[in-house]
Amino acid sequence: MKILVVHGPNLNLLGEREPEKYGKRTLEDINASIKKLAGELGTEVEFFQSNCEGELVTKIQEVKQNFDGILINPAAYTHTSVAIRDAILAVTKPCVEVHLSNLYTREEFRHHSYIAPVCVGQISGFGLDSYLLGLKALVNHLKS
Ligand code: DQA
Repeated sequence: MKILVVHGPNLNLLGEREPEKYGKRTLEDINASIKKLAGELGTEVEFFQSNCEGELVTKIQEVKQNFDGILINPAAYTHTSVAIRDAILAVTKPCVEVHLSNLYTREEFRHHSYIAPVCVGQISGFGLDSYLLGLKALVNHLKS
């Protein structure tokens, strides 16, 4: 089983970016924890981060041929991107949306996700654990 882990814009700055909201872990730290859990679950993971919507869409399109599912933190594109939503729909593979912060305790514009309705589920507010819970849920979903 192979999962594509997608990180959206500004997540390359984790560790230094608004640490009170997103924590002190870098993206490399987060990816290392995801990789460790994936190994325990017997799953392969590939990581992709981009600040560009089109690059994210192009990478997601690869899922149809090369991956079994998607774990995604679309970051700010959560709230704006019909293109990412359509790419997820196009590949017809299960997707889980995750967020470090709790979207629903923040500004109102973050309460709406274009991505969540095309996902199996959304996990929000648990920091690194959002990714780990999301991976576990996605793997269980794929196995069931
Ligand atoms: C985020 C929440 C988004 O609203 C924000 O734009 C981000 C990070 C999160 O993981 O909490 O960049 O996706």
